[in-house]
Amino acid sequence: MIIFSSPKYKHLAVPLLKLPNFKSGVFGIRRFPNQELQVSVRTKVKGKKCIIIGGTASLDDELFKFLLLSHTLKIEGAQEIIAFIPYLSYSRQDKKEAGKSLAALWLGEALRASGVNKVITIDIHSPLAKILFPIPLISFSAEKIFAKAIAKYPLDKITLVAPDEGAIKRCVSLGKILGISKNIAYFKKKRTSRGVIISLLHGKVSRQAIVVDDILDTGETLVGACKKLRQEGAREITILITHGLFTGKIWEKLWPLGVRRIYCTDSVPETKKFASEKIVILPLGHILIQYFL
Ligand code: R5P
Repeated sequence: MIIFSSPKYKHLAVPLLKLPNFKSGVFGIRRFPNQELQVSVRTKVKGKKCIIIGGTASLDDELFKFLLLSHTLKIEGAQEIIAFIPYLSYSRQDKKEAGKSLAALWLGEALRASGVNKVITIDIHSPLAKILFPIPLISFSAEKIFAKAIAKYPLDKITLVAPDEGAIKRCVSLGKILGISKNIAYFKKKRTSRGVIISLLHGKVSRQAIVVDDILDTGETLVGACKKLRQEGAREITILITHGLFTGKIWEKLWPLGVRRIYCTDSVPETKKFASEKIVILPLGHILIQYFL
């Protein structure tokens, strides 16, 4: 198995490279003066299984590099190409709406056309993307990493909170691991032209709350949920988020709402620049190994 890792994702390749029969592939990417990309693969891949580790996040640039690298491996004769994309961007566009792009399907088709046989990701936004994808899409959960991070919290006094209906399953599953599956509250979220509207749908909120969601993008969802949580009596709030995009500044409004800490995985390498006492980055570390053992 040959691993081609984008420089930003090297940390996720390290545990795999300790396994027998895994080695690092060498490649380079350059741009022509007009910015067109060119990939050079310097490791022989004919008849070999390859993994590409990287992102398709925020910058379109990353996605183009990923697709071109995969296509180059394919035409060099790679037997199988597995894409490990911890944060699968575009997967939120997974519902057909008249006149609008269905980008989860588009991304799947673009990956397949570029030679990818299978995609592995972390906490896919919803199972719909799996249905839309034209190639197998496997999603591993970060829940055990979160469970470990909050193991010392007074769990019997805590309410797990889903900020929208999409996050209920994540809360229930984490609740089972922690043995608190009854202490769950969830909200209903509506996106309107005036912003996100959150209303309590189910459950009682205790003084300490842990909000669980897959993505913190602008933070609007979480700010809406935390405002509501305060009205319902929560005073100490912790947030568990798989993919921290931290776009813009809205998320900074979380602190005055009683948020003590945000735990966030390193699925998006850029998240590291937000690391602080209050934003704790949890390494995904060995998560991919389970697929190969
Ligand atoms: C959407 O349903 C997702 O699960 C997240 O709640 C959403 O993407 C977060 O976006 P934002 O932080 O911009 O509200």
